[in-house]
Amino acid sequence: MIWLGIESSCDETACAVLEDNPVKILSNPLYSQIEEHNLYGGVVPEIAARAHLQKIAVIVQKAVKEAHISLNDIGAIAFTAGPGLMGPLLVGASFAKGLAKDLGIPSYGVNHLEGHLSAAWLSNPNLKPPFLTLTVSGGHTELVVENANFEYTLLGRTRDDAAGEAFDKCGKLLGLPYPAGALIGKLGANGNRKFHAFPRALKHDDHGDFSFSGLKTSVLRYVESNTPEFIQENINDICASLEEAIVDILVSKTIWALKKTQLKTLLVGGGVSANTHLRSKLKAYCERKQINLYFPTPALSTDNGAMIAAAAIRRAQEHALLNISEVKPWMPLAP
Ligand code: KG4
Ligand code: ZN
Repeated sequence: MIWLGIESSCDETACAVLEDNPVKILSNPLYSQIEEHNLYGGVVPEIAARAHLQKIAVIVQKAVKEAHISLNDIGAIAFTAGPGLMGPLLVGASFAKGLAKDLGIPSYGVNHLEGHLSAAWLSNPNLKPPFLTLTVSGGHTELVVENANFEYTLLGRTRDDAAGEAFDKCGKLLGLPYPAGALIGKLGANGNRKFHAFPRALKHDDHGDFSFSGLKTSVLRYVESNTPEFIQENINDICASLEEAIVDILVSKTIWALKKTQLKTLLVGGGVSANTHLRSKLKAYCERKQINLYFPTPALSTDNGAMIAAAAIRRAQEHALLNISEVKPWMPLAP
């Protein structure tokens, strides 16, 4: 069967066409609103909702065209039901439901975080739970065990900012454009990771929770106590040190969770999972400990429509599809 996946929870209007047996992405275009939010240094929900409204039909048509199918070939539509921004979610859900009704096909709500985790599954469709998952995005940082039948056990999450949010907010303090995560990774690759020791909150505590707000404050103090010229001249080294601190926290807590659960499979997802330094640090540990490690392809790490269709296909295979009112709109996925 052919699936349409629609993602509109934040600042990307995305739509993908997927075949489910065998699972294959036929198209996966998106419209990024970054330019529209850049001026404000972060996502403005009202602007996001309006941009989704303007672009959603265009992107759906593009997805259908690039997949070389017609609308009538689609068997079901999956859309992001939450978590995310209310206005943007409403645009995606209304469009998906309207189109499904028009085509006489079913539509299913998908949890955005389940979508992120399903991105890695797309390259490894034989993967079966239980496994440990690390979700690192602009809005979430969670360590969760995925058990059979989409039952989840929360091991830890951020008490304040998410990892992507930490990248973006610290980047803003350093004068970098929004979103700063990918750029910090790029600049940091050429820098000295020991240039400055930024703090690693909760790193040695015996639990799975994260905290990044102190890091943000320490970057603010650092910027205040140095000249703009100094920051500019040493931006690669500062980004390398900042990235090192964030990645160190993420990797340490993931190791804590692997030891605690004794699980031998780790699946990572979310925008920050595109980070090369995080990938290589996790890879080094997992190789040493013979743990199977799965990432999405870098392009599928950030928000996209394919991960939403993938999550629905996974659920369809287990006869566990959800309608919109059954999707828990925020984490934890389990009580
Ligand atoms: O998953 P995502 O696309 O959207 C949310 O669900 O939030 O994640 C976006 C986040 C942003 O904070 C962005 O700065 C971060 O992912 N990000 C990165 C990289 N690429 C995107 N952070 C670090 N390194 C990257 N290469
Ligand atoms: Zn996301």
